[in-house]
Amino acid sequence: MPLRTKLTEKLGISHLILLAPMGTASGGTLARAVTEAGGLGIIGFGYGNQERIDQEFRVAGNARVGCGFITWSLARQPHLLARALEYRPAAVMLSFGDARPFASAITDAGAALLSQVQTVAQAMEALISALTSSSPRVRRPAGTALRARLWRSCRQSSTPCGSATTRSWW
Ligand SMILES: Cc1cc2nc3c(=O)[nH]c(=O)nc-3n(C[C@H](O)[C@H](O)[C@H](O)COP(=O)(O)O)c2cc1C
Repeated sequence: MPLRTKLTEKLGISHLILLAPMGTASGGTLARAVTEAGGLGIIGFGYGNQERIDQEFRVAGNARVGCGFITWSLARQPHLLARALEYRPAAVMLSFGDARPFASAITDAGAALLSQVQTVAQAMEALISALTSSSPRVRRPAGTALRARLWRSCRQSSTPCGSATTRSWW
């Protein structure tokens, strides 16, 4: 029996299987196969290249797929995100860098934002961002309170929190 979770519902998939977007390894053919098998195929665009974006989405055809970028590289050529969003991806995954500058463009386009994190601090910031982005009116107070609570519980646990992001982005 398929496993149903909030993620399968959010992504509209019947099996909890996501293809890791990886540079040249996860192309349109593989992404399409994963989607057709009931998961979500995610094409890896790596450091970013417009020809490859056009080519791999073409190969994926009308299969409902997502795509992923190396975030710090995308920051150097942000127009590539707009190009990818023209193909209406189901999700965009951002790995290795600050996803926040791209978040609203992705969600405004109707795609789910998947963000890879490397430290507990990044995970907490992503959580705060997700929890407070729904209503601008409650953003600042909710974000500030949440951050304080999360850092308190983090300090009390034995889990290392990684390098703290102290700057606020509201
Ligand atoms: C060679 C390589 C290429 C990658 N390319 C992308 C990419 O194009 N887009 C992306 O979002 N993530 C990319 N990633 C991140 C992978 O998707 C991520 O590492 C994968 O989900 C596996 O997770 P893990 O590294 O925690 O096992 C890449 C990772 C590797 C090792």
